[in-house]
Amino acid sequence: MRSLQDRVICIVGASSGIGRATALECARAGMHVAVAARRMDRLEQLADELTAQGREALALRCDIACEDHAEELIGQCRQRFGRVDAVLANAGYSHEGSIVDLSDTALRQIFEVNFFGTVRVARAAVEVFRQQGGGHLLITSSCLSRFTLPYSAAYSATKAAQTHMARALRLELEHEGIDVSVIHPITTRTEFFDTACDIAGVERRGLPRHSPKLFIQPPERVARAIVKCLRRPTPEVWTSHITRLVAGAMVAFPWFHDFCVRRELAHRHAMAPGDEIVPPAVESGRNPPP
Ligand SMILES: NC(=O)c1ccc[n+]([C@@H]2O[C@H](COP(=O)([O-])OP(=O)(O)OC[C@H]3O[C@@H](n4cnc5c(N)ncnc54)[C@H](OP(=O)(O)O)[C@@H]3O)[C@@H](O)[C@H]2O)c1
Repeated sequence: MRSLQDRVICIVGASSGIGRATALECARAGMHVAVAARRMDRLEQLADELTAQGREALALRCDIACEDHAEELIGQCRQRFGRVDAVLANAGYSHEGSIVDLSDTALRQIFEVNFFGTVRVARAAVEVFRQQGGGHLLITSSCLSRFTLPYSAAYSATKAAQTHMARALRLELEHEGIDVSVIHPITTRTEFFDTACDIAGVERRGLPRHSPKLFIQPPERVARAIVKCLRRPTPEVWTSHITRLVAGAMVAFPWFHDFCVRRELAHRHAMAPGDEIVPPAVESGRNPPP
């Protein structure tokens, strides 16, 4: 078990949802936290909350779709705190709809953020970790990196790419004292689904109703699992053991994947228009306080 007291973490994609909840959980565990994303107002408010917990905090604007931002970000974080012990590459979004209807530009954009953005964060983190003689890189992927759902192909492809990258990097870097972990959240109550609908131009809000309640978690649940992994690094973090088992079976038996997903799809199609969602999980785009 590692002590996290006075350790430094940089969280990319911290202005809402899982990243925000993880920043607060890390501060509770004694860490100093750099938070990064595009919405500075959100980050500054979060940094105030972290400082109020008695930790040092730094809010940094970063768009990981831009080539130099990740490197600048990790550099600024190191300059401010003297070192960077852990980096969480968490920024990402989804796109609702069939991949055959997606333009090349939209497809490239989701890969630019979810995959290439993660690669850029990983490169910058590993460079600093090598100079320091160690560190911990964590990547928020998804359970959808192991199986997929109809109308989620583009997103799942980016998440599968992240997961394979994390698995390879873990083995490449372990002899250098660098840990790599990949996180597989299940449906989590965040702005994620609203953003996906906004991007696809779909007029609806809230979590998809077809997600069974058993498989819906608050971002704080994921945050606690991430902090546990920081204390004791593990290759993969699953926040639902049932989903992990089902995902394993789906990989081993493709017919089982199709059987489960067809049932889900039939359920979705059978719903009356407007009934396919539950009310917004977050009020006016804000997560509930932990
Ligand atoms: N919610 C779920 O059900 C679920 C399930 C599995 C995996 N995940 C994964 O969990 C991660 C966090 O998602 P979430 O659920 O917490 O959703 P969220 O509340 O929408 O958070 C996404 C975060 O990513 C940041 N971001 C997006 N594009 C960015 C960019 N170009 N540059 C920098 N930051 C960017 C956003 O900040 P700004 O908009 O301020 O830049 C925000 O802080 C994502 O990688 C997602 O794929 C989510």
